[in-house]
Amino acid sequence: MTRLAGKTALITGAARGIGLAFAQAYVAEGAQVALADINLEAAQQAAKGIGAATQAVHLDVTDQASIDACVAAVEGQFGGIDILINNAALFDLAGIADITRDSYDRLFAVNVAGTLFMLQAVARAMIARGQGGKIINMASQAGRRGEALVGVYCATKAAVISLTQSAGLDLIKHGINVNAIAPGVVDGDHWDSVDALFAKAEGLAPGEKKRQVGAAVPFGRMGTAQDLTGMAVFLASAEADYVVAQTYNVDGGNWMS
Ligand SMILES: NC(=O)c1ccc[n+]([C@@H]2O[C@H](COP(=O)([O-])OP(=O)(O)OC[C@H]3O[C@@H](n4cnc5c(N)ncnc54)[C@H](O)[C@@H]3O)[C@@H](O)[C@H]2O)c1
Repeated sequence: MTRLAGKTALITGAARGIGLAFAQAYVAEGAQVALADINLEAAQQAAKGIGAATQAVHLDVTDQASIDACVAAVEGQFGGIDILINNAALFDLAGIADITRDSYDRLFAVNVAGTLFMLQAVARAMIARGQGGKIINMASQAGRRGEALVGVYCATKAAVISLTQSAGLDLIKHGINVNAIAPGVVDGDHWDSVDALFAKAEGLAPGEKKRQVGAAVPFGRMGTAQDLTGMAVFLASAEADYVVAQTYNVDGGNWMS
């Protein structure tokens, strides 16, 4: 299918996991994709694996100069940006009594400030170009409610949902749709490290937390990155022109709102 033919997408944190799966799905739908990541070498490997319609770009979403350089590089290479996926994020685990300022600062810098200032830089470029666009933020079921050991990450994802609403309402007058996806538990490198953190915090055997969270999903298993690509393609396509400021749960039934 070619629902994104002629479009250029910039995906942050695209070197692995969900961002990489989105890059593969977008190329399959006819888009050109810039894979932006703090790990340039991994992004280059990922881009090479997908093929010619991709570009790897270095990006640190906590650094405004890096954001501006990344947006300029992608515009220079592809002539404009039609789609942004704000996907880069960090996770951490600690009870309220043990949260450190360092952990708080790192997670808010990447997950919240990184999302906002990437969104702002790409929105400015889209407004200047005058052709509208689609911006998709990666939220989480963690943004829908708190979790005892995940306070900071949950707060960052609640902020992403709120920013999606504000930006969605402000930017639709420019033909820019801002929406978000809230996954549940998605297997991959990220959840391997989450499992290891829970194993330490709760004295579980390796793999046990993944087994528990998978068994608790109404669908019957953890998600895969591929489970999310349909929503990511839809929200980037013309079919979503009338969808504004929403956050969609794609989580096997974990959360209803
Ligand atoms: N995996 C899940 O279960 C799950 C669930 C809900 C939401 N999410 C969200 O989906 C998104 C992708 O998750 P994932 O599991 O693929 O994560 P991941 O950890 O596998 O990938 C994140 C990527 O972001 C990059 N990154 C980190 N800091 C960066 C920075 N400062 N600048 C640029 N890139 C940076 C990393 O190098 C990595 O390639 C995240 O926003 C995450 O919060 C994931």
